[in-house]
Amino acid sequence: MNLHRSRLFCVALLFALLARLPGAAEETFAPRATGLAGMLGDRIALFLPTDLPLDRLPPSLCLLDRPKPGEAPPAAWRVTPAFSFSDARTRATIPVPDGTSLYGTGEVTGPLLRNGRSITLWNTDNFNYRDDEGRRLYQSHPWVLAVRTDGTAFGVIADTTWATKIALDGRIEFTSRGPSFPVIVIERESPQAVLRGLAELTGRMPLPPRWALGYQQCRWSYQPDARVREIADGFRARKIPCDVIWMDIDYMDGYRVFTFSPREFPDPKALNAYLHARGFKSVWMIDPGVKAEPDYRVYDSGTAADVWVHDAFGGDYHGAVWPGECVFPDFTRPETRAWWAGLYRDFMAQGVDGVWNDMNEPAVFNVPGKTMPPHNWHRGGGGLPAGPHARYHNVYGLLMVQATRVGVAAANPDRRPFVLTRSNFLGGQRYAATWTGDNASTWEDLKLSIPMTLNLGLSGQPFNGPDLGGFAGEATGELWAHWVAVGAFFPFCRGHSDKGAPAKEPWAFGPEVEAAARTALERRYRLLPYYYTLFRESSLDGLPVMRPVFFADPRDPALRAEDHAFLIGDDLLVIPKWTEQPHLPKGLWRTVALVGENAGTDKFQPDLKVRGGAIVPLGRVVQSTVEESLDPLTLLVVLDEQGRASGRLYEDDGDGYAYRDGGYLLTTYAAVRQGDEVVVTIAQAEGKRPRPARRLVIQVLTESGTSEAEGIDGRPVTVRMMR
Ligand code: GLC
Repeated sequence: MNLHRSRLFCVALLFALLARLPGAAEETFAPRATGLAGMLGDRIALFLPTDLPLDRLPPSLCLLDRPKPGEAPPAAWRVTPAFSFSDARTRATIPVPDGTSLYGTGEVTGPLLRNGRSITLWNTDNFNYRDDEGRRLYQSHPWVLAVRTDGTAFGVIADTTWATKIALDGRIEFTSRGPSFPVIVIERESPQAVLRGLAELTGRMPLPPRWALGYQQCRWSYQPDARVREIADGFRARKIPCDVIWMDIDYMDGYRVFTFSPREFPDPKALNAYLHARGFKSVWMIDPGVKAEPDYRVYDSGTAADVWVHDAFGGDYHGAVWPGECVFPDFTRPETRAWWAGLYRDFMAQGVDGVWNDMNEPAVFNVPGKTMPPHNWHRGGGGLPAGPHARYHNVYGLLMVQATRVGVAAANPDRRPFVLTRSNFLGGQRYAATWTGDNASTWEDLKLSIPMTLNLGLSGQPFNGPDLGGFAGEATGELWAHWVAVGAFFPFCRGHSDKGAPAKEPWAFGPEVEAAARTALERRYRLLPYYYTLFRESSLDGLPVMRPVFFADPRDPALRAEDHAFLIGDDLLVIPKWTEQPHLPKGLWRTVALVGENAGTDKFQPDLKVRGGAIVPLGRVVQSTVEESLDPLTLLVVLDEQGRASGRLYEDDGDGYAYRDGGYLLTTYAAVRQGDEVVVTIAQAEGKRPRPARRLVIQVLTESGTSEAEGIDGRPVTVRMMR
């Protein structure tokens, strides 16, 4: 009875709050003093308003640990939020010095530089980014990265899951529909150091299996199973590298999750075995909506375990998604997460390699707001308080993929999970990679996909990318070729397309586009050792794999708003073909060819430049990561002005966890010019994995061309330089 009354009270309160929608001109904010301010770690400070004492802090869904503030911030501390509130909302305002560049804010449309923009954090199934002009998309990151003119930087987390608006005109302002929230400020010497701080607080992407770095082919949907085989065979016959084929919703029996269509996918195990035999992995989709249908195993077991989200009156909430009327797991409950994780055991046993969680905003069809009502009820548990959907909406996807990851890991304890999600929240890199939802086959969305990928990386999520070629609509061959040419460098590299859209496989547009795709993907596969090394670093320090060019020199104001050119790691610069007058980092950068291409004359391939002072490890062109690619290992060397260069290569089994016990090899190679020769040696090696007996090819790039020598890895190699 009491529970019922408090729920009705909450519902009434919510309606009262929602009636006061933003824009109400008369809304005034009154200041609320800061209660506690204390240091959480190295130049990280926590600020709480007076109405939020530390012992009443609700559990955080983005932070790894409950904050334990120490001493007060030093007197010279520069970035301090001011709290305020109105009848309906709570606010934190952070002043920003003139000339400061703002980034982050998660998955957003628009340019890289966020100054002057506003974003709404309310996860939305936003087909073609049309709703609200793309100001709210599938994920929420209450996080802003600020880079001052002198290159020092700070970052701000507003630790709230409620609907929140971030306004960035001359200040950073978080305005939430929920109660008061903590603000955490990271103050460090560079944007990179701030992102390391973000990772200290919110965690890092776990090291993915190496295959997940390869090219991936998707469509809604390849069906029946024979069509999947045909697509896989198409890659091998045409010698276009590819690692993964994706199964969209039509593999299911009437869109019932954790089932297979008896007619079109009668033997998923055999299909997966077929793919595996040809060097492919498979990723299969699972949505949160469970068909509300008695005698359907998943519905029955979920109902028996009482796992569904409730409506405001305590009954199971029903809403329509692909299978028709559905119920939705209440992932705030630990029991629900355990039940959900358990469903993956039999599913993965079909030979499934990875899982794709979609529609987890959660999307609901034919209702206002395209999601469940804000007064639906989540029961929480395990320290998480019960609360309305308005509170948990933005973390529904995060809690779902948390459970999925546990299930996938338990099903195959010796393999690293791969989970892709559409919806997520700050910190969600701990559980899943992401893609940027339903974009369109337009030039606009191709160009947009670069700052989107960059800003997600600047918000803690390194493993992300768009649907290459665009999801909705028809792609011209030219657009598709340009998209794969640049998309081959995105951390997550998958072509996808909408149901009913014309074919978008690399060969669907004729020989010229097919050749362009082959070149683009061969470039990626040659670079995979470099990417894998970067992914490993990112799993340790949280820095993005794909980086804005201002990372090369945070003090250079010219680089702050570059939307098209980008960096992979610190050493590789990618300049799309179609960009005009990009702002590029100063210093020595030398164009490289990886598979015989000439980016100067090629119609599609971006110009690729290696930084002076860098050594970039390259593998052979292979058709999938199953093939051994590091014999020979090639080291691309570009010397700096002092005639030196260095670079790293990380190797392990590519899957499993032996690397955690030292089963890896991390080699730092160094090159030094001595007169007419360049000598390449191993400066440092770490890990227990034995060095494979393999050939080493050294290519030293200079103004006058490439000098090359061959040797054996582990021994010095001397390159005689061309005059
Ligand atoms: C959603 C996804 C899309 C998928 C489709 C069918 O629109 O964003 O990627 O193909 O659902 O499952």
